[in-house]
Amino acid sequence: MVKYGSLAGWLSWLKHFIHKEEIASSNLAPATMKKRILTGDRPSGKLHLGHYVGSLANRVRLQDDYDQYILIADVQALTDNYENPERVVNSVRELVLDYVAAGIDPQKSTIVIQSEMPAIAELTVFFLNMVSLNRVLRNPTVKMEIEQKGFGDSLPAGFAMYPVSQAADITAFEADLVPVGEDQLPMIEQTREIVRKFNSLYGETLVEPEALVGEFPRLIGLDGKAKMSKSLGNSIYLSDSAEEVTKKVMSMYTDPSRLKPTDPGHVEGNPVFIYHEAFNPNKEEVADLRKRYQEGKVGDVEVKQKLAAAINVLLEPMRERRKELEQNPDKIDEILKLGIEKGRKVSGNVLAKVKTAMKINYSF
Ligand code: TRP
Repeated sequence: MVKYGSLAGWLSWLKHFIHKEEIASSNLAPATMKKRILTGDRPSGKLHLGHYVGSLANRVRLQDDYDQYILIADVQALTDNYENPERVVNSVRELVLDYVAAGIDPQKSTIVIQSEMPAIAELTVFFLNMVSLNRVLRNPTVKMEIEQKGFGDSLPAGFAMYPVSQAADITAFEADLVPVGEDQLPMIEQTREIVRKFNSLYGETLVEPEALVGEFPRLIGLDGKAKMSKSLGNSIYLSDSAEEVTKKVMSMYTDPSRLKPTDPGHVEGNPVFIYHEAFNPNKEEVADLRKRYQEGKVGDVEVKQKLAAAINVLLEPMRERRKELEQNPDKIDEILKLGIEKGRKVSGNVLAKVKTAMKINYSF
């Protein structure tokens, strides 16, 4: 019950009107008054724990407070899969399953397919004039990928330019915030540069986004290699069964200098302990295991069993949500259909603003 006698009551009464005013003076729905998030993934395989702690957990946490859009970047995935488009298309539904399993609620977050947003393609073409060829080729993530993939002289222009299309993804939704893994920071920086260039040329039009990196921006692989990655085969997937998780954890790389459980072990840089920090919410248990490991009073088996149990506690509700949606494929279609509809409206409005700013808004 609101009492209008008190000051707080008066304020809340007043706010009621101010809020109404704001809604009336804008053609946006009230939900879009929240700040925006846009983030996304290439549909080219299953999501793993590295994705979860790098970005997905942030998306789940922030979906109540932000108007969140999650982009299935199929056009970007084609830049290195153009010879195999069905691989990309077949991964789209997988990605929706991963999202919903991880805790993304399609009522709160809008899932959009990149190729269904013509505004993104158009913005990309305009943005390509706002960045030099040299600048694109200096993007450290792209540079590393070009090397890894061994493109050599046959580097597709589309691949080299994908950060520009990513700038279009982000700005098409007027995102304030972009939750991503560490490897994506150069993309956000490049987006910010394009936004500043555009705004200085044509007037304040685009929103300059900020990146938000997760608690573990780059998760070490099961094999102790720098990064959990599908191509390195050192990942635990969100869709792995409890048995698969246990098997993978039991074969994890640990301290190579420790031969017997009675040898004092190293916890720094040890993937098993890094994962305990990331996935085991029982901090006391983790502290106890660390201490005993360093003193040579616990075997690897116990440390790993406790880790597998903690990861399975995290993944179990995900398995349930996945199963439920898997049994209801029409629901996936519906999620995508609604996301596309809403996404087209939002990105179409931004494209119209961009064209107006550039004075190419013909009215024939
Ligand atoms: N490049 C990202 C990746 O490989 C995917 C992506 C495409 C993205 N568009 C985006 C991420 C926009 C954040 C914002 O993971």
